[in-house]
Amino acid sequence: MELRLSVAIDGPAGAGKSTIAKILAKRFNLMYINTGAMYRAVTLRAMEENIAPEDKERLLDLVDSLDMHFKNDDLILNNENISEQVCMPSISNNVSNYAAIPEVRERLVYLQQKMSEKYNVVMDGRDIGTVVLKDAPFKFYLTASAEERASRRYKEFCEKGIEVNYEELLEDIKRRDYIDSHREVNPLTKAEDAIEIDSSNLTIERVVDKMADYIISRTKL
Ligand code: DC
Repeated sequence: MELRLSVAIDGPAGAGKSTIAKILAKRFNLMYINTGAMYRAVTLRAMEENIAPEDKERLLDLVDSLDMHFKNDDLILNNENISEQVCMPSISNNVSNYAAIPEVRERLVYLQQKMSEKYNVVMDGRDIGTVVLKDAPFKFYLTASAEERASRRYKEFCEKGIEVNYEELLEDIKRRDYIDSHREVNPLTKAEDAIEIDSSNLTIERVVDKMADYIISRTKL
């Protein structure tokens, strides 16, 4: 019988989920599904077409017209690699409002579940362990203080040569934490059976090792 392996990683913005998920994906030969990028892709196209989150009919028509798949850790949207574009601050500042629309979530959750039926995945987001992959054998909840997360984001932008203000990033992270954990549908919460890891004082390698050790200890690989 083919071994089905799926790993769910949830947590607030900037906790290190995507960096860690990519490394785990390589280590265990899994497909990395960045669900935040999918919500960002919807935001990118909606903003390009001046569709407000409240304009549900047009928004849902737009979502239904999007073809999304992952290749080498990148999100390909209608044949275009949009991984860089969706990380811009203008998208980060608006994505929570689009991600709070129940019908948008319904559609993206459906796509994510289809992907997990087809491939062994490591998926990161906010509702993976609680909704999308409720039955995943491995669930992690990764956190870090808001200040630590803002300073990581700040460094990432600086390395890419994008000018940003630390205080604004911190405010944005706090605002997004609030919206993500207070929205009505699928708010950010730790699944009861998820292992919580606070990465504030841990290196990436250390977090990856903790997760990998846990997966190996419970899998006959
Ligand atoms: O992980 P990220 O910062 O790229 O996520 C972008 C936004 O999308 C974030 O504000 C919360 C939302 N999101 C969500 O609501 N559910 C997910 N599974 C993933 C992301």
